[in-house]
Amino acid sequence: MSQLQGEIIAAGVPSSNMNSYEEAYQNFNWSDVEKQFSWHVTGRVNMAYEAIDRHVDAGKGDKPALLFSDPAREESYTYEQMQEQTNRCANVLRKYGIAKGDRVFVFMPRSPELYISVLGIIKVGAVVGPLFEAFMETAVKDRLEDSGAVALVTTPELLPRVKREELPLLKTIFVVGDNVAAEPGIADWKSELAAASPEAEIEWVNREDGLILHYTSGSTGKPKGVYHVHNAMIQHYHTGDVVLDLKEGDVYWCTADPGWVTGTSYGIFAPWLHGVTNVVRGGRFSPADWYRTIEKYQVTVWYSAPTAFRMLMGAGQDIIQQYDLSSLRHVLSVGEPLNPEVVRWGMKVYNRRIHDTWWMTETGGQLICNYASMPIKPGSMGKPVPGIQAAIIDDNGKELPPYRMGNLAIRTPWPSMMRLIWNNAPKYEEYFRIPGWYISGDTAYMDEDGYFWFQGRIDDVINSSGERIGPFEVESKLVEHPAVAEAGVIGKPDPVRGEIIKAFISLREGFTPSEELKAEIAKFVKEGLSAHAAPREIEFKDKLPKTRSGKIMRRVLKAWELNLPAGDLSTIED
Ligand code: WT7
Repeated sequence: MSQLQGEIIAAGVPSSNMNSYEEAYQNFNWSDVEKQFSWHVTGRVNMAYEAIDRHVDAGKGDKPALLFSDPAREESYTYEQMQEQTNRCANVLRKYGIAKGDRVFVFMPRSPELYISVLGIIKVGAVVGPLFEAFMETAVKDRLEDSGAVALVTTPELLPRVKREELPLLKTIFVVGDNVAAEPGIADWKSELAAASPEAEIEWVNREDGLILHYTSGSTGKPKGVYHVHNAMIQHYHTGDVVLDLKEGDVYWCTADPGWVTGTSYGIFAPWLHGVTNVVRGGRFSPADWYRTIEKYQVTVWYSAPTAFRMLMGAGQDIIQQYDLSSLRHVLSVGEPLNPEVVRWGMKVYNRRIHDTWWMTETGGQLICNYASMPIKPGSMGKPVPGIQAAIIDDNGKELPPYRMGNLAIRTPWPSMMRLIWNNAPKYEEYFRIPGWYISGDTAYMDEDGYFWFQGRIDDVINSSGERIGPFEVESKLVEHPAVAEAGVIGKPDPVRGEIIKAFISLREGFTPSEELKAEIAKFVKEGLSAHAAPREIEFKDKLPKTRSGKIMRRVLKAWELNLPAGDLSTIED
């Protein structure tokens, strides 16, 4: 099936929490994981308590919880300081009437205030909605509107992108800045927190109560609000143990932004549930800064993405010699296929195995992974997490034998499975259309040793630099441009970004194709929707291929682009 079959990298150092995968898989019991939480004894549940306060109660208050740096700031917070700050934040939210079940969004670049806000929101039992800082007006409005958000935490720089007059439910905006001007509906986050009490009551919730709402893209319609509950902590803790291999003394760095699920499940919850020191780096990607971060904080466990590893690979080997990376013990990747070439390079230049992990926003946590304790087959996503049953099934739910490609599916339920698509029950049902299974939308096959190999996505969702982009949202923005009559958007394979966004556009009467117009249209999407959703390539066409019902056939556009046969054209317009 694959030229990659047969290449094996031996199992890692036995520092793993899981010495034998097979044994761990067979003897696994979720109830053993549940015993790790204080609610197992007290019956009182809250993710923020388990992530922060519990460690203070256990006498670890002086341990560094957060090591933050960006080009302008460098700060560290102990667990006790995080407890105090999140208490202050909780008190301020309560003062503004925010209570259990309310949706409260955070829209800001990485900063200590972002992490404090996320946990403060969870402390009062509200549901946190993270928004990526690159989102522009339309993207921000759609998400706040769909969720019925009552409050938002943002910065003075991002505030102009929030169309308050169009969001009647949005009562309070907390602005994290200096000298925030008093105005109705605006609260000064910093001075309010400074004036608040450092002690707060935690809102005890049920395991099935709302925790976080992550908007993610599908191929049609607006982004979907993927709703997760406090019970997800069981999966976060478990995978923090067996996949991230976290230990008491670890300094852990997840490079993802909390605007995406990796940046919350594994940038906030898993490391803090384990009480390790969490490194957060803001600012742009730069190979020198990244290596400096590892050296400076003596990072031991590093979780990043193929696109970043490819860019580091592109930066070459010389730069690596300038830094001491010897603290690294365990390296992991997520978001898109991890090229075997990158795994080989990791062995060569870092002398470390890069462990691929597979999961999705909807799954809330890692499901198929490479473990420290098991051999890696470069190009494979690995094997199911203990407690998880994965299979390749056909469209009727029949399990397929090894090497047959089909739907990558997971037996329902598991602790961090999404519980709702906000306001969209039919979308939710689609994932569970085959009884007993969650259908991921990815295709894959399994080999005779039980390793899973990613093949592709079934729908048109674009994966650019590990970020999921719905073609429909981009097309909708494109047709708002006065020159654009119709637009079709596809992912075009790219060696560094995995895929880039390519837009096929037909122009309205009176507009002529030009390079300037392409640049202007790309800028329009960048400024209206977000930078990562802007097409890097635009091609003008007189007409776009459509079905008789008027749907743009992205499959045909993709075939044009890749010089492939277009397949069944029976439904095409003409
Ligand atoms: C989609 C989910 C959850 C982490 C960040 C992405 C693709 C994810 C891998 C991997 C090949 C991968 C899949 C998946 N994907 N990890 N290890 N190998 N593809 O979350 O934005 O919800 O995207 O990303 O297509 O369905 P997401």
